[in-house]
Amino acid sequence: MSRLIACWMRRVGRCTAALLVPLLMVTAAYGAEVGSYRGGRIDPQAPAVMVVPQGHNAAAFYDGVRRSLYAPGVTSIQTPEANVLIQSEGNTWRQIRNGPITVWGGWLILAVMVAITLFYLVKGTIKLHEPTTGRKLLRFTVYERLVHWVVAISFVLLALTGLSLLFGKHLIEPIFGTSVNAALLWVAKNVHNYTGPLFGFFLVLMIVRWAKDNLFTSVDWLWAKKFGGLLSGEEIPSGRFNFGEKFWFWVGVTVLGLTITVTGLILDFPLFGQTRQDMQLAHIFHASAALFMIAMAFGHIYIGTIGSEGSLEGMKTGYVDEAWAKQHHAVWYQEITGRRQ
Ligand code: HEM
Repeated sequence: MSRLIACWMRRVGRCTAALLVPLLMVTAAYGAEVGSYRGGRIDPQAPAVMVVPQGHNAAAFYDGVRRSLYAPGVTSIQTPEANVLIQSEGNTWRQIRNGPITVWGGWLILAVMVAITLFYLVKGTIKLHEPTTGRKLLRFTVYERLVHWVVAISFVLLALTGLSLLFGKHLIEPIFGTSVNAALLWVAKNVHNYTGPLFGFFLVLMIVRWAKDNLFTSVDWLWAKKFGGLLSGEEIPSGRFNFGEKFWFWVGVTVLGLTITVTGLILDFPLFGQTRQDMQLAHIFHASAALFMIAMAFGHIYIGTIGSEGSLEGMKTGYVDEAWAKQHHAVWYQEITGRRQ
């Protein structure tokens, strides 16, 4: 019996030890960390740190960790920077993100919205100069419309969720509170992360499909010089796409769209050895390009809907009226019908 008890006590002892040892190690590690001991090593060079209760986020302590007041941590994880607990450049990134990107980006979006509203109030919708003929011309195939609408719908979703992620703290939280903002942002983040690759894939299909028709030709310069007659009301001839559309295609869709896509994939899939600094740079490019593209997209969406009579019909049904084709794309009209104005 006494041997049994002794054995049991030894076991309990082992169990207790098994529980106590890690507990003690964690406590020691925490205590020692504060006293310049990290990752199982004592740094003799580290200055003594006085532990002062600092509330739940212990900002001063973590600032010490960030400024490497303690010995570098040791970990068996093999990813880059795995032993860097707090990366200093993160603070610079945060200041850029919460400073210029949020502030200037916000003003840019607002300025474009005001400019388009004023333009609409002053100029109104560009009307057709001649009555519709009822004769229709094929402007976009089913494939082109499918690609366009997948890109358009996913872009709008990405823009809405992306803007919530950037401005939610300033616009949603003060009105609806922290919990509502947090819940909305959780949804926004997930929608954003999953919609991004879909947008990128269809964006590439769009670029491949329309690149040829968006190459610049000599007629485009007249359109550019006269700003497409948007102010004077003149009819400026153009091919299948005019200079304004080509500018949107190359600068907005191709350069900004691809920048957003590539940087978005770097952020979405941090599995290829990206460091935190790579991700921070990717984020700055991603957010800046997205804000410029959203600003440009306002112009495109305006002119494709209430800005110009008959434009949306082409993208909705695939067909446009001859009167619309003659007025807005005279060179294209001539090419496909063989008729002059
Ligand atoms: C969501 C709202 C949108 C609407 C209502 C809209 C509407 C239109 C319309 C009506 C056209 C035909 C114009 C014509 O016949 O010449 C068009 C063309 C086009 N759209 Fe959109 N669009 C939207 C969003 C987008 C987005 C988000 C993108 C790209 C990211 C985009 C890229 C294009 C391109 C590339 C063209 C062909 C003209 C060109 O090459 O510039 N659209 N759109």
